[in-house]
Amino acid sequence: MKDIVPLPPAIVRNDVAAVKGLYEKNVIPTYARFEIVLSHGSGSYAWDILGKRYLDFGGGIAVTSLGHAHPAMTEALIEQSKKLVHTSNLYFSEPQGRLAEKLVNAIGPGKIFFSNSGAEANEGLFKLARKFGHDEGRFEILTAENSFHGRTLAGISATGQDKVKKGFEPMMPGFRHVPYNDLEAMRNAISPATVAIMIEGIQGEGGITAATPEYLLGLRKLCDEKKLLLLMDSVQCGHFRTGHCQSYRRILENVPGGETFLPDGISMAKSLGGGFPIGAFWVRQPFADLLSAGSHGSTYGGSPLACAVALKVFEVIEREKLADNARNIGNFLKNELLRLSRDFPTIIKTARGFGMLIGLELAEKIPAFASSEKSHAVQFVSRLHEAGMLTIPSGTQVIRLLPPLNLRREDAEDGIAIIESTVKKLLL
Ligand SMILES: Cc1ncc(COP(=O)(O)O)c(C=O)c1O
Repeated sequence: MKDIVPLPPAIVRNDVAAVKGLYEKNVIPTYARFEIVLSHGSGSYAWDILGKRYLDFGGGIAVTSLGHAHPAMTEALIEQSKKLVHTSNLYFSEPQGRLAEKLVNAIGPGKIFFSNSGAEANEGLFKLARKFGHDEGRFEILTAENSFHGRTLAGISATGQDKVKKGFEPMMPGFRHVPYNDLEAMRNAISPATVAIMIEGIQGEGGITAATPEYLLGLRKLCDEKKLLLLMDSVQCGHFRTGHCQSYRRILENVPGGETFLPDGISMAKSLGGGFPIGAFWVRQPFADLLSAGSHGSTYGGSPLACAVALKVFEVIEREKLADNARNIGNFLKNELLRLSRDFPTIIKTARGFGMLIGLELAEKIPAFASSEKSHAVQFVSRLHEAGMLTIPSGTQVIRLLPPLNLRREDAEDGIAIIESTVKKLLL
């Protein structure tokens, strides 16, 4: 374990209660946090302040694409911060231009706007859609039930889950939700005011549910027919997490007609910066200049530091062929989890997903969890914490596994061993 001593105040060193106390007194309690105080990380592992090691299959919720403390990222941070951390978007800087070029080359002909988070990237796409339909009085965006599009006011309005809206009504006008993977429902929902459709290629917060190839191809046709923008929220499922640059490429590989599929806008964040905050949206030509000078902006968006780090993350992903690694190790993980679902059907119902975006669905009623009010997902995640592994609950029944794209085979095997032993302890 690396000995990293937190700088002042030293009184909180190795003292969980003291750190928790700082939060209770000073941090707005919007998060239901687990009782873990993390200190540092290396590769696929993170350590808490008590020195306990965790295999990190949560990745900061699909963020740390290169794992923790990757030397190339550290070097990029240090080198760029010695030159220029920030400059306003009143000027040009090379890292922003180069990162935009890389993203355009990876996705398709179009242009990029840089933001700082996923929700903010989606906000930009909502504004793009409004601009697109403005002169015709069209403004409505259709999204999917069970979707998640961020915590800003437009984000929760766009999100197809009531729990994020509760207490914040009235919602922003102009969003309606329809069942996911149901093309007819989408077609029937289109009104004269509709201007765009936004979906996730794979619903992340919604329990790792992938769009079907027919749905994606059908939406593209529908949008062309009705003059709507097809927008994809790739914040969680994008940037090589599925073993492809974009989840739709993975879903549509080997599907006739799939190779030409392209949405009109894509939002991204999370894996893009590997942990350094950055978001972005891509807009397809011929819509890429709809947002003109003065129509949108962000003080920090696309800073030289954020872009230099994201460029380095991109370079490492390419150089080390991490898309292939995500695919291969992801297949291993999913197959092993499916084996566990066959061996222990009273605990694990199934596993699904692509690459390093895997959902493990728990059995409906696990007797060992019956006496607690907490959801099965939270209880299972807590058991995994005890066993030395970080994962992310999704809804009440699903655990998300979102390890780094460079996860090694031996660490994947360790992860399966931890999950298997945790499952066996629940058999009673
Ligand atoms: C699909 C999707 N969209 C948007 C967001 C919001 O991103 P951020 O938390 O960076 O604002 C998330 C975050 O979990 C997400 O999963």
